[in-house]
Amino acid sequence: MIKASELKLHAIAKDAKKVQCDAIVIGVGEGTEGPFLLENPLSPKAATALSESLGLLGLTGALDEVQRLPGLPELNADLLVLAGVGKTGLGGDVDDESLRRAAGSAVRQLAGVSSVLLALPASTVPQAAAIAEGCALGAYSYNEYRNTSAKSQPEIVREVTILTEAADEKPLKDALNRASIIGRTVNATRSLVNQPPSDLYPESFAQAAKDLARNLPVKVTVIDEKKLEKDGYGGILGVGKGSSRPPRLVKVEYSPAKAKANLAFVGKGITFDSGGLSLKPASGMMTMKLDMAGAAVVLNSVLAIAEMGLPVKATAWLCLAENMPSGTAQRPSDIITTYGGRTVEVLNTDAEGRLVMADGLAAASEEKPDVILDVATLTGAQMVALGSRVSAVMGDEGVRAAVKEAADRSGEQFWPMPFPEELRQTLDSQVADLKNIGDKFGGMLTAGIFLQEFVGEADGERIPWAHLDIAGPAFNETAPYGYTPKEGTGVGVRTLIAYAEDVLSRTS
Ligand code: BES
Ligand code: MN
Ligand code: ZN
Repeated sequence: MIKASELKLHAIAKDAKKVQCDAIVIGVGEGTEGPFLLENPLSPKAATALSESLGLLGLTGALDEVQRLPGLPELNADLLVLAGVGKTGLGGDVDDESLRRAAGSAVRQLAGVSSVLLALPASTVPQAAAIAEGCALGAYSYNEYRNTSAKSQPEIVREVTILTEAADEKPLKDALNRASIIGRTVNATRSLVNQPPSDLYPESFAQAAKDLARNLPVKVTVIDEKKLEKDGYGGILGVGKGSSRPPRLVKVEYSPAKAKANLAFVGKGITFDSGGLSLKPASGMMTMKLDMAGAAVVLNSVLAIAEMGLPVKATAWLCLAENMPSGTAQRPSDIITTYGGRTVEVLNTDAEGRLVMADGLAAASEEKPDVILDVATLTGAQMVALGSRVSAVMGDEGVRAAVKEAADRSGEQFWPMPFPEELRQTLDSQVADLKNIGDKFGGMLTAGIFLQEFVGEADGERIPWAHLDIAGPAFNETAPYGYTPKEGTGVGVRTLIAYAEDVLSRTS
């Protein structure tokens, strides 16, 4: 069961001294002439004394720096915490993402402390909201499978108060609510990714979708293997054939009465990618529980949009299968018939994501949504091109640009990629409509071009579409940083939510 822990978020306007909390966090900027204290509630005397010690404390003001000090008598907290916010603009102003990261890093590193007052610069609602979001994202840990070592894990921060001049502004209440929904849904995405494939397989994932959707105005439909067979979902079935645990297609629909737009999200949900008969080496398999991240992202994005009550129809399609080698597995050179009738020669069973996504995209297209966004940990080539923290966005120029903009606003890193025309022909097959692998080079782009073939038409034109490859960013293999934990990161949810909000702000 995926449990989403809830961080309590409050805001107050002044008098940090009146707040009872375990720790007060103030910001340190990374100036050209050394570290400096950002706007804070300390008395001038205390602030001056502390300013003079920053260098000697070994602080630089860099992001992720968190220094615990004893609380001052003038404050009502046992701990005073200095948190780096990185380089600031002229006049010491801090951008929203730096606030998000600094707040998230502090809250993450303050695990073991139960209540925290954030006294970072926050004169506006967006700044206070960024801090709140950072806190909600930083307060995460995954201990479901710890028994004997559970006690050695410090408890995550439970309650946060944000000191902000905007505390009494009307929009702040909604902004804090949004931050807490974002925290909950991103964290649920992380937990789904972190859950071991021994327990997370297509059927249990479908059940998790139902559990998470409980109490929300969302309809969850599970298409099981019999129905997949009957309706011709050859991509999902082909990939799932090698596993003893049958595949599923899950449709999660939020359809409010006065919807101003209709969005479809398709997610890759390979609960474990062994490569199939085109078996991966052991080293390449170690992180392959991550391969359902796209499905977790689209699920939680629709749940967030529903909980926020945005007037937009949003449907998530979760393409769930386990890619395993066995006597019943699909073979390299098998030909499958995907949903809608197009045939694919499967030359590499490790290029399975595009096969399940082909079915999902074709099914989503039947409902003629205004736009389709798909999210997938699709290619290792994504990491070769952009590294492990920047995701790729491909597809129609307008949608691609809108996704990039939504990502920028939400603090997720995406970068636009092209579809060079000459790559399409590398997918031509001798014996079927398409083959599932193309040229060795530009593997991320070829995979995107493959997907494009399955995006359907509405009124004689291809449905506007973009493809988000989050292969690297979905899973943090190194140390935690900012508000990002180790393993599942939840990347993609914030971008899809922001995308839906942006669509609405363009229609009204
Ligand atoms: N799930 C992998 C892609 C992946 C690799 C995600 C590493 C995250 C980290 C995908 O199914 C895959 O195996 N892709 C192949 C495609 C190739 C066979 C054309 C790849 O990238 O090697
Ligand atoms: Mn694969
Ligand atoms: Zn895969």
